[in-house]
Amino acid sequence: MKIGLFDSGLGGLSVLRAVLDRATILDIHYHADQAHLPWGPRPPAELRRYCSQITAALAARGCERIVLACNTASAVALQPLRGQFPELQFVGMEPAIKPAANLTRSGVVGLLATPATLAGELLAQTRARHAPHIQIVSDPCDGLAEAIEHGDQQRVQTRLESIIPPMIQQGADVLVLGCTHYPFASAAIADIAGPDVAILDPSPAVASQLLRLLPAGPTGSGERVYSTSGDPAEFARRASALLGLPVTATQEHWATQEAASDFGGATRG
Ligand code: DGL
Repeated sequence: MKIGLFDSGLGGLSVLRAVLDRATILDIHYHADQAHLPWGPRPPAELRRYCSQITAALAARGCERIVLACNTASAVALQPLRGQFPELQFVGMEPAIKPAANLTRSGVVGLLATPATLAGELLAQTRARHAPHIQIVSDPCDGLAEAIEHGDQQRVQTRLESIIPPMIQQGADVLVLGCTHYPFASAAIADIAGPDVAILDPSPAVASQLLRLLPAGPTGSGERVYSTSGDPAEFARRASALLGLPVTATQEHWATQEAASDFGGATRG
């Protein structure tokens, strides 16, 4: 069974890494829409169109399970995609608010996420269901995903130094990484937050959820296909460094600026 994963860029590789930690045998197609990165500040309708177009293309290449390896995509597109592609099974991400609520002793949780994730219904529902009594201090982390994407360590450090200390000062003793790019900066985050602050990355839980959706267990031949709407050589270079694996990539422009006639009118098939 072939699994499709997608994100705006390299961030979803933190989810792929968690999947490969559990099952290397799976056949995987990972797509990065780097031409449109960052996704976080874009309007929901545009993001839904991109997610629909990418899902249709992954399905056309034989993927039967689709992992939205992106909190932003999950926040705006997970429910519509389930309606649009009933033949596929989807795994989405939600900020790890529930485990954070169980873990915090101070009752204050810091949430790092993109603007679209913070504005989304999914977060509001998760909060209401699992953490109504918890104070959440959030930050839309302007520019952080791009800095991680481009491997700009200096900018990552500067952004984190302005995002994290105010959360700690407000009493946060748990930080939730609400964007799949952020685990690639977890060492810097831990350094700034200090030893008394727990850091939650939802990708292991997402990988476990994917495995639960494989009724016969993980099967395949370990095929890995990577595509990007950006520069494939640069993607391959950065992805192999982040995964510690050899990566080659092709260029695919699946997500387009043209509006589809309706949500389902993109490149279905
Ligand atoms: N990695 C993404 C997420 O999980 C999106 C980052 C972006 O493109 O803004 O939200």
